[in-house]
Amino acid sequence: MAQRVLDRLLNAIEGDDRLDRPGHRLEQGLAFAQNLLGVTRGRARGFLHGVWLGHPFHPLLTDIPIGAWTTALVLDLRGHERTARAAVGLGLAGALAAAVTGLNDWQYTHDDARRVGLVHGTLNTIALGLYGWSWWQRGRGRHGRGRIAALLGYPVIAISGYLGGTLTYRHRIGADQTDRRLDPRRFTRVLPERDLPEGRPHRARAGDVDVALVRSDGRVHALVDACPHLRGPLSRGWLRDGAIVCPWHGSAFELRTGESLNGPAVHPAQCLQTRVRDGWIEVRPRAAASPPGGTSARRQEGWP
Ligand code: FES
Repeated sequence: MAQRVLDRLLNAIEGDDRLDRPGHRLEQGLAFAQNLLGVTRGRARGFLHGVWLGHPFHPLLTDIPIGAWTTALVLDLRGHERTARAAVGLGLAGALAAAVTGLNDWQYTHDDARRVGLVHGTLNTIALGLYGWSWWQRGRGRHGRGRIAALLGYPVIAISGYLGGTLTYRHRIGADQTDRRLDPRRFTRVLPERDLPEGRPHRARAGDVDVALVRSDGRVHALVDACPHLRGPLSRGWLRDGAIVCPWHGSAFELRTGESLNGPAVHPAQCLQTRVRDGWIEVRPRAAASPPGGTSARRQEGWP
């Protein structure tokens, strides 16, 4: 029963294209604000995505308001008014940080996920308003009003949390979207070596998997041709300072290791071992035990 209701709710949100117009306006407003604050430049954007953690930053921060406001609920029930207000305040600080990182992630989503994200953010804003009011009222000694506002906010944040989970588990936002179907046991021929130009990514095929080949400073690099963020084609990207840049949202990956240097992708791109045999470039997945770009990885690549 509950599952059917939630499924209906989700399908209604995902299929409602009336959400696209406000979504578009919000995206434009965000881009304007970020340009103004310089967040689109340097590492600030990557920091908000969680590149420094190798994990999306936003979901970690959402635990703060959920935990703090649940604590406030219990403290209210037990009549601890002062500590309940402190818990509400802590939740507010966490919710603001989660809002900043969440908006930063949301602007690089599309279609159904973008609509769900918009409703998720709207509910969070309503909850933030209710808890902000609750905190204010408690500060003025009106604890009854503060408790009522918190009671109204709690189900809102619970539904919003459910939508946030949907973005992760159903739409895989924040998950590593790299294709990992290549057979790790053998090398696959992908392209005659002479056909790979210097400094320009090239798309090739290894079995069922698309591969982005890059020759940089004479070395051949290969990555699975799917950005870990939302599967953007890296072979249509470009090189910048020893990194390949995804053409969709600008994530940059170190060529040798696949390490994400700038978000929205926080997971590494999947680098492949390469070697040349009889004038052909061949690839296969790196052995799991090999540190990317480390000594053993270099040895396995088959390059001098
Ligand atoms: S698909 Fe979004 S940065 Fe590559």
